[in-house]
Amino acid sequence: GFRGQVTLDGPSGTGKSSVARAVALELGAAYLDTGAMYRAATVAVLDAGVDLDDADGITRAVGEAAIGIGTDAAAEQVTVDAVDVTDRIRGTEVTRAVSPVSAVPAVRRLLVDAQRSLVDGAPAVVVEGRDIGTVVLPDATLKVYLTAAPEARAQRRAAQLGVTDPAKIAAIAADLRRRDEHDSTRADSPLRPATDAVTVDSTHWERHQTIAAIVELARERA
Ligand code: C5P
Repeated sequence: GFRGQVTLDGPSGTGKSSVARAVALELGAAYLDTGAMYRAATVAVLDAGVDLDDADGITRAVGEAAIGIGTDAAAEQVTVDAVDVTDRIRGTEVTRAVSPVSAVPAVRRLLVDAQRSLVDGAPAVVVEGRDIGTVVLPDATLKVYLTAAPEARAQRRAAQLGVTDPAKIAAIAADLRRRDEHDSTRADSPLRPATDAVTVDSTHWERHQTIAAIVELARERA
């Protein structure tokens, strides 16, 4: 079987999580969703009532929280202080606040350390996020940068949420743009492809084609 590390980075709404999970299952690898960790950290910040421009308060709230996440591709469960937040982290309140929280350098240091510990020792792992190939696992076996045209990303996110109203789809597109802008212009670990990443543009592909292409790339490298 496959042995090594696959990193999957890219903007929001490419279907990155479902692709990464499927790739991990096909490769028989562990799976880590680092976005879920930033989202869980955001739950801790919101519950602490900290202002989103108070970097010290944000760091304290995240540092005091116990974020629980597994590396089983077949069963994602996320907890904060032993409370299940698996559904809550996908809600609009958390989605709105996650970019400012994840832009705080001290928060990134805490979570990057945790991410490295979680995958350390795993013979095969797929890790998805924004800075995995550039910062978290710079020596990964295969680095993929997954993109798709902005309209395609808004449509996919809308389909995922069961939204069909054009005004609501436009709002989703605006939300994705705002988050991409924030994530790619922040000073610490901005979203960008690693110099040795393979860019996969899934605009005109079905999900299964994207999964097959990445699995093949991984097997070629292993
Ligand atoms: O991937 P997902 O949309 O769940 O990520 C949520 C947010 O977490 C991103 O918009 C980004 O602000 C942050 N993030 C990050 N670094 C990662 C993964 C996610 O900054 N490695």
